Amino acid sequence: MNKKSVKDVEVRGKRVLVRVDFNVPLNEQGQITNDKRIQASLPTILYLVREGARVILASHLGRPKGQVNPKYSLAPVAEHLSEQLAQAVPFAKDCIGDVAMEAVSTLQDGEVLLLENVRFHAEEEKNDPAFAKELAGLAELFVNDAFGTAHRAHASTEGVTHYIPAVCGLLMQKEVDFMGNALERPERPFVAIIGGAKVSDKIGVIENLLEKVDALIIGGGMANTFLKAQGFNVGKSLLEEEKVELAKQLIEKAKAKGIELELPIDVVAALAFQADAPHRTVKVSEIGEDEMALDIGSASAEKFEARISTAKTVIWNGPMGVFEMEAFAKGTERVAQAVATCGGITIVGGGDSVAAVEKMKVADRMTHISTGGGASLEFLEGKVLPGVAALQDKE
Ligand code: 3PG
Repeated sequence: MNKKSVKDVEVRGKRVLVRVDFNVPLNEQGQITNDKRIQASLPTILYLVREGARVILASHLGRPKGQVNPKYSLAPVAEHLSEQLAQAVPFAKDCIGDVAMEAVSTLQDGEVLLLENVRFHAEEEKNDPAFAKELAGLAELFVNDAFGTAHRAHASTEGVTHYIPAVCGLLMQKEVDFMGNALERPERPFVAIIGGAKVSDKIGVIENLLEKVDALIIGGGMANTFLKAQGFNVGKSLLEEEKVELAKQLIEKAKAKGIELELPIDVVAALAFQADAPHRTVKVSEIGEDEMALDIGSASAEKFEARISTAKTVIWNGPMGVFEMEAFAKGTERVAQAVATCGGITIVGGGDSVAAVEKMKVADRMTHISTGGGASLEFLEGKVLPGVAALQDKE
């Protein structure tokens, strides 16, 4: 990446504001149910600790809409982080004002402080300059390691960069490098697998990928709109009628560019959207009026596996079916296995496909698993991420 990183600047003895993405899932008891994002931020935090910086962590959690709401407090994260780092992580009950200032003033070299949720202030999402200036006033250097929030131009991701020098963290660098290299300099064949419920969420991604890949595999609920565009009846399946025309155009575009667009040839069709619904595997030409496609069928999985096995670069975003239900998980499972064993560079992004890869226990066999949901989608769309763009360029 052409941005300065935390390793390119002097940090010893400095107060360093680090924007992390600790937007982690919590259960009713306020316990963290998946700490992957915290784990992913450890290399930057540990680097700064080792180098003797005074580390001030800032993050959002959930969408509290500018109101203080204990449900979205980062306090449980401070506890968890202190276990992970094997050192105390004090928690400041506000991210600005006297509370924050005082907590920062007691920090010694190598110590780590976590600030309360920046979204408890409405000014955060408005990218309010005065709020950004106050946050920036806590530190002498800003490090953005929150790839998951890099698509948001908020005070703690973009605003602060106007007041203190701003560089990227190690996670941010890794994310941008892996995905950027795959998109710009892929080893070929380059195969993208796009799934998930809706075409409308992924139009930009498909359009951008059609400029880059050798083959594009489409599965999941969104495939139904493409099947309809091919003239098949999809019964009661999830369908975006108003996107059928667009799907036709994308099919034509792929053909004109010589890109193989792989769509399901069979599906697991069920009578209801339920884990125990009666279901059968049918050709896409035989989906009944009262049936809905909830997974790709075995012939499709075989076709997709064959394509994936030839790939030197794979980007996967979105599951092939309703993998949360056992009866409709097979397609996603087979694709996950095929990606894990293809031997190429494999990048998985988007909350659902990451959850699928974790569920199938093949996460450690992927080259890179993105911590970004919306951010990785926008990256794949080819959009500029404001949280990255605002950082200092390498000299
Ligand atoms: C995410 O979970 O995708 C990021 O943390 C961003 O959260 P947001 O969509 O609430 O901005």
